[in-house]
Amino acid sequence: MMTEIIRADAAAVSDDRLRAAAEALAAGEIVAFPTETVYGLGANAHIDASVHRIFALKGRPQDNPLIVHLPDRDGLSELVCDIPDAFDRLYRAFCPGPLTFVLPKKETVSDIVSAGLDTVAVRFPSQPVANRLLRLAGVPVVAPSANLSGRPSPTRAWHVLEDFEGRIPYVIDGGDTEVGVESTVLDLTSAHLRILRPGIITAADILARTGLEIDPYVAIPGERPRAPGMKYRHYSPRAEVLLVSGRGEALREAVVARLAEREDKRIGIFINAADWAKLAETVDTDRVIPYTFDPARPVTEATHHLFDALRTLDRRGVDVILAETMDDPAAEGYMNRLTKAAGTPGQPLA
Ligand code: TXA
Ligand code: MG
Repeated sequence: MMTEIIRADAAAVSDDRLRAAAEALAAGEIVAFPTETVYGLGANAHIDASVHRIFALKGRPQDNPLIVHLPDRDGLSELVCDIPDAFDRLYRAFCPGPLTFVLPKKETVSDIVSAGLDTVAVRFPSQPVANRLLRLAGVPVVAPSANLSGRPSPTRAWHVLEDFEGRIPYVIDGGDTEVGVESTVLDLTSAHLRILRPGIITAADILARTGLEIDPYVAIPGERPRAPGMKYRHYSPRAEVLLVSGRGEALREAVVARLAEREDKRIGIFINAADWAKLAETVDTDRVIPYTFDPARPVTEATHHLFDALRTLDRRGVDVILAETMDDPAAEGYMNRLTKAAGTPGQPLA
């Protein structure tokens, strides 16, 4: 199969460019598209065979449910039976945007979508190309991150092509995704609102903007995660990923110590540009390949670049990737993805 790449400018979305892909999507084809978080692999949620195809293409475990994407809340009552008050407050504050709601599902939602759960996850992407595509398609669209299961999520069109070129008919290229990690998943099915997957919107943001108290995300070792996807090893490049912690001098010392331990290896480093500038004066730049981010907004920039850094450094053939940790509370989503990327191969993570 030839994969057609449709270039779509988020600043000036053209319906004409998206129409063929939107029609194909509604008719049951698979279309990859940009969102504000990561690229999604889209299928019509009403066509079971297309939803099955998504699982097959990704090599995704059948017990991991999908998020249904809508352009706005108009189509929501077709999918869920009970819309709690908290939903309205959250929708007004954060939607469209990188927040996913887990709600009690109606029978109209196929068990394949929800992986047999009695809930369904729904989100309203703000990225203009995604929003327009969903409107033109006119159907609810399931869209997991457009990566092979276990690989880093895609934040550029080439990441999607790396995993799916020749296997899907359309990739819509909308450039870099803004956020860089997937949406915050929020469980609204009990009185105790709870974050099931951390993202750029944190419990503190939700409290500040809506007054709603949310249990922050905690991974309890041994407990079955409420978002089934959280139990799998994830986001892994081919290279081994090691974390380096500390600020300034302490961070640079941690890097130098790691480099000394692995003298015979090619090493990639994902680090802020200020510390790299100092390190570059001393380390052996023949075997060390940097991927740097802007230190002026470290959490935003590190989050934006993480998955691209993992794939880019892999392509450069490094054996090991050293990646800077962040202790800022806003970096919860970043640290969640990074620690998973550094997980032990073959080990499911609780
Ligand atoms: O930002 C995003 O959410 C991206 C873009 C493409 O929209 N999508 C995404 O989908 O990250 P995916 O399939 O890669 O991750 C969905 C996560 C998984 O951890 C899954 O287990 C959880 O959401 N999830 C889906 N439905 C659920 C449900 N009914 N209850 C609990 N967790 C659910
Ligand atoms: Mg995913």
